[in-house]
Amino acid sequence: MTLSVITIDGPAGSGKSTVAKKLAERLNAGFLDTGAMYRAVTLASLKKEIDLEDENAILAVMDASDITFEIVSKSMAVTVDGVDVSDEIRKPYVTEKIKYIASAPAVRKRLIAMQREFAGAHGTIVTEGRDQGTEAFADAQHKFFLTADARERTRRRMADLEAAGQAVDIDELRLAIEKRDESDMTRQTGALRPADDAIIIDSTSIDLNGVVDLIIKYINAK
Ligand code: C5P
Repeated sequence: MTLSVITIDGPAGSGKSTVAKKLAERLNAGFLDTGAMYRAVTLASLKKEIDLEDENAILAVMDASDITFEIVSKSMAVTVDGVDVSDEIRKPYVTEKIKYIASAPAVRKRLIAMQREFAGAHGTIVTEGRDQGTEAFADAQHKFFLTADARERTRRRMADLEAAGQAVDIDELRLAIEKRDESDMTRQTGALRPADDAIIIDSTSIDLNGVVDLIIKYINAK
């Protein structure tokens, strides 16, 4: 099968996870949530109580931990040392610390290698994150950058967290999202930005099914 990669990058709450999943379903393609990888390494590092600013210590945690990613029931299932952590990695105490893992260049390099391996095993794949179109799959056939205004992104994130049974304060959440945007956009490697050849879609006032329809139109037109 010819490998065909569709990348969707964008900031927190832009809807890229939901869109990527729906798109993968419509195209009968694989799906990769790369944020889950950064989250899993963060959780494993927190469990081992290492200094999160020590890149070698993070790499050692990756060596010592058995971290798996798999598509189960059309969602990304993640395990660390045999324990299903798919929900745990979404908790705010993990989210808060991801920036240390995400700004470690050697960690990013390893995760990108894993992402390429994952893609290679899936034929056609929809992959979402921050650097999928710029770094991991710079030669992907179809690249999209999804955005929405900060207020709408906060509202979406809030709905996700509430659906997962997590209580959140909207002002705190907005602040956390803005902080994460700032650290994602300013880090030295793999910073969040649209690839030069990405199509930018502002989803502030389009519902997510509408975004999927739009992406399919762009793909078919190419
Ligand atoms: O997409 P999600 O919110 O799960 O991503 C969590 C964090 O992981 C992001 O804020 C970012 O710091 C990091 N990340 C990254 N590169 C990716 C995907 C996620 O740096 N490709």
